Amino acid sequence: WGPDDEDEPRLRGASGPVRVRVPAKINLHLGVGPLRPDGYHELNTVYHAISLHDELTARRGDTLTLTMEGEGTGELALDDSNLVIRAARALAAYAGVPAYARLHLRKQIPLAGGLAGGSADAAAALVACDALWGTGLSRDELAAIAAGLGSDVPFLIHGGTALGTGRGEAVSPVLARPTSWHWVVAVADGGLSTPEVYRELDRLRASGAAGTPLGSADALLAALRQRDPAVLAAALGNDMQAAALSLRPALAATLKAGEAAGALAGIVSGSGPTCVFLAAGESDAERIAAGIEAAGVCRAARAAHGPMPGARVV
Ligand code: C5P
Repeated sequence: WGPDDEDEPRLRGASGPVRVRVPAKINLHLGVGPLRPDGYHELNTVYHAISLHDELTARRGDTLTLTMEGEGTGELALDDSNLVIRAARALAAYAGVPAYARLHLRKQIPLAGGLAGGSADAAAALVACDALWGTGLSRDELAAIAAGLGSDVPFLIHGGTALGTGRGEAVSPVLARPTSWHWVVAVADGGLSTPEVYRELDRLRASGAAGTPLGSADALLAALRQRDPAVLAAALGNDMQAAALSLRPALAATLKAGEAAGALAGIVSGSGPTCVFLAAGESDAERIAAGIEAAGVCRAARAAHGPMPGARVV
C-alpha cells in the first residue's frame, strides 16, 4: 500500500495529505507531590486544552522526514531526537508498519513555554500517522503509546478538560456542562526547562521556601461546575509557580500587568514561563491582551479560549 502501487486497491490509509490540529494545554490546577524514586513527581492536575494550536501535515513518503515553519524554526532539532519523529516511530513499531512519512509542522505554540507544545506535536504525529497509515487505533491505544513519549502527551490526544494523575499520564475527562472559558496567553522571551523548574521546586521545598502544596484538585473541579469565571479565578493554582518565579523573577511583573489590565486571575502555565490569565468574557480577553502588550512585559499576548478537542484530523 505504498505510494506507487497504483494497481492495488487502497484498502488502508489516506492517499492524500492528512492535516492534524492540536491544542496547547494549560493547567488550571497543578498540584506537585513528592519526587518519586523514578525521577518524576506525583501530580494532581487539571489539564485544559486551549485554542492556541499547532498543525502537523503528514504525506506519504519513502523515508521519515520532518520540516517546520513558525515558532522555534531554526532552534528545534528535526532529527531522531525530535518528539514528532519519535512518536511516528513508536506508532510504526506498535502497529508493525514501516515508518515512512513526510511530516510538516506549522508551530504557533512557543518552545519550552509551559504549554506542552512538544508534547502536542507528538500527539499530532500519532493521530496523523494513524490516519495516513490506516492503522486505525483507538484513542485509548494512541494514549497508551503517548504515555511512553512524555507525561503530557496522553492529555493532548484526548483534549478538553481532564484530571491528570500519576506523573500526569493517567488522564480522565472532567464531565461538565459545556462552558467556554476565555484566557489571555502571555508568551515570554525564551523558555524554561521543565526538569530545571522541578529541581528548583524541590530545592525551595527543602529550604522551606515553597509554600504549602496545593494537594487535591477537588476545589478546582467544584469551581468548574459553577461555570462562573470569578469562582474559577479564585480556585486556579500552580505549585510550580514559585519555582518558575524564582528562576525568572521578571514573571512577577507579567502577572501584575495582567491583573492591572482587568484579568480575574493570572498564573504561570505549567513550568512556565508563559503566564495565563482568566477573563470574564471574549471582549475582556482581547482588551486584557492589548493591555499586557502595551505594558511591555512579554513577547506577545493573545486571547484564547477553551476547552478545545485534542489532536484531530481537520
Ligand atoms: O514526561 P516528560 O518527558 O515530559 O518529563 C520531562 C521531565 O520533567 C522529566 O524527566 C522530569 O524531570 C520532569 N517531570 C517530573 N514529574 C512529572 C513530569 C515531569 O519531575 N510528573
